[in-house]
Amino acid sequence: MRISTLTLFPALYEPFVSTSLPARAVDAGIVSFSIEDMFSLADPKKRIDSPTFGPGAGMLLKPDIIQKGIEQQEAQYGPAYKIFFSPQGQKLDQPLLKKLAKILQEKKHIMLMPARYEGMDARVEEKYADCLISIGDYVLMGGDLPAMVLMEGLLRLIPGVVGKEESILEESFSGPFVDYPEYTAPVVWEGHKVPEIVRSGNHGAIESWRNAQAAQKSVVHHFGWVRTHIYEKADKQLAAEYIPPHYVILMHSQVMLGSGDEGTSSVTSLDIHDIARSACTYGIKKYFIVTPLKDQQRIVTKLLDFWQTDVAIDYNPERHEALRAVRLVETLDDALEQIKKDNEAEALLLATSAQSYKNVPSLTYHDQETVWSQKRPVALILGTARGLAPSVLDQCDYMLGPIEGFSEYNHLSVRSAAATIFDRWLGINPVDRSS
Ligand SMILES: C[S@@+](CC[C@H](N)C(=O)[O-])C[C@H]1O[C@@H](n2cnc3c(N)ncnc32)[C@H](O)[C@@H]1O
Repeated sequence: MRISTLTLFPALYEPFVSTSLPARAVDAGIVSFSIEDMFSLADPKKRIDSPTFGPGAGMLLKPDIIQKGIEQQEAQYGPAYKIFFSPQGQKLDQPLLKKLAKILQEKKHIMLMPARYEGMDARVEEKYADCLISIGDYVLMGGDLPAMVLMEGLLRLIPGVVGKEESILEESFSGPFVDYPEYTAPVVWEGHKVPEIVRSGNHGAIESWRNAQAAQKSVVHHFGWVRTHIYEKADKQLAAEYIPPHYVILMHSQVMLGSGDEGTSSVTSLDIHDIARSACTYGIKKYFIVTPLKDQQRIVTKLLDFWQTDVAIDYNPERHEALRAVRLVETLDDALEQIKKDNEAEALLLATSAQSYKNVPSLTYHDQETVWSQKRPVALILGTARGLAPSVLDQCDYMLGPIEGFSEYNHLSVRSAAATIFDRWLGINPVDRSS
């Protein structure tokens, strides 16, 4: 199989293809490289670039140069799968590398088209690019380093290139989890000992330990990856073990009223049902409803009692299951006390609000690591009426930013906000539905 590259700087590639594993792959006859100099494609004294049309400075590679390069390479080595590079392209990751490695093995010829200056004429990419790749959300001077990054990632997936094939089967980003921690001699280094289990010789125990370590590390530090690449039930169950216990607390006291005063609000049966069902879906342990008002407590109790009856269980067992996790309490402190008792640890309090509040550090829905690395239970606190009063907000450790869409309207019901918050904070959101 062949990887051919059309570049302005062939010298950059020479050390790359003649060093270490790429050189060994060539010697073993697994792969051949051809590096074509773009400058050699221009007529004598003619430029290979020309200014972009319209306002704004910048030069683009001329379409006819690229066309000539592609035609020459394909005439010599056969039709190629053509990869162009651009910060605007599809982000390179391990699943994409695997797909491209398969294509390379099938098509036998991949052509890499690193650009320079402002890049390629859009018509050239439209006509030729089978794939447009970015190596990250930043802009480099040219596509040569991206092309070499791609080659490195690709080559090690080709059988025979890396010595031990099992070392590439189970590694970071080839499934939902990153790699487990690994250790070598000496057993004690700088006072730190290699975990006993790793040297126990018990292969089953070592494998379980490694799986657990990988899952824990991934959930806490790479939740964005886990939630978008987890498909198997067993993996989901393993990941769930490392998400700290979550609780939701719906405040009907210490909330702001239309008058601008702090006060209490009425309960709503829809909120009881719907938040309970959402909480259950996202693995939330308990849903506390906080109201000090006796008449409101009676309404909640009546509803919850009904859903414990045989009639209700028969009628809708899933609803019974969801409502079983609801707890009625008089105060926020009562809810926090129960969480502490369940976990022998105090909860971190995450306030939610439609507005921002300067006294409490704010978090985004990508900041799970900040919270989960503290290894404490987490309480998501929701307000009713006009939102949580400062007397609650000031008690909170963090505040999650307002839920927003591309409109000026910002008045969700608390049950809708709850579902969105749970999904943003805890939800699985796969990138590939075919898996
Ligand atoms: C200066 S960049 C052009 C950036 C382009 N004007 C933009 O803003 O999207 C020149 C070339 O470098 C390569 N390049 C730069 N950053 C890249 C990245 N993050 N991933 C892949 N290629 C990149 C591409 O081949 C690109 O055409």
